[in-house]
Amino acid sequence: PERRPLIAGNWKMFHGGNSGLALAADVVSIAKRVPHADLVISPPYTILGAVSLDCQGKKVAIAAQNLHAKDKGAFTGEISGPMLVEAGCTWVIIGHSERRQLFGETDATVAEKTAAALQYGLLPIVCVGETLAEREAGKTLAVVKRQLEAFLDILAASDKAVAIAYEPVWAIGTGKNAGPAEAEEVHAAIRAWLAEKSPALAQRTRVLYGGSVKPDNAKALLGCPNVDGALIGGASLDAASFGAIAEAA
Ligand code: G3H
Repeated sequence: PERRPLIAGNWKMFHGGNSGLALAADVVSIAKRVPHADLVISPPYTILGAVSLDCQGKKVAIAAQNLHAKDKGAFTGEISGPMLVEAGCTWVIIGHSERRQLFGETDATVAEKTAAALQYGLLPIVCVGETLAEREAGKTLAVVKRQLEAFLDILAASDKAVAIAYEPVWAIGTGKNAGPAEAEEVHAAIRAWLAEKSPALAQRTRVLYGGSVKPDNAKALLGCPNVDGALIGGASLDAASFGAIAEAA
């Protein structure tokens, strides 16, 4: 593959205590037998510090699931980029569709957070993806392009090897993944839009697919030329299935 595969597990609001520490230890073992891929796990905030201490030097990187764009301030309940760095995170997921749909995040907040992540030394995994209604209306590429354009200049202004996750909303947690051809169509378009902005950006950015990635569909999805990895929800909550997907990369 042109880019090293990136396999990321988004635990969402699961495994916030001892079960998360145990799962992280299992992912450390998976990393030993999957030297050909970069592994990232994204536990809930409450165990980020503990998990990152356990994973130090063990080839498993830690991502937060969100951040606030400011570095500090009177923002009850929020967590800043510098705090995530102190807790041991090197990555942060931004603009997940659940954040956009349930917590009011917009293209503008996603752009702000992307800039903040890079400013504070975190690598963003910025999420894009269309809803079922948008796909059925033939608007998939237009929606993804609009979402991408909100933060493209910010990525291009940095030389960091960031990631973008294409997650069709209708495929998240539904067991209904995009087929490899459907995924590749959007991934290739994303690559082309990145290249229009900056060939170097297109070269270094890993475009992950997310949405019902499972051990039995991972090989086909990860085999697509412009799919550089996966952002995995449900199947990342179990070490056996996360390991099987990582092995397929
Ligand atoms: O961030 C991960 C995605 O939302 C995918 O979740 O694998 O449970 O469909 P899923």
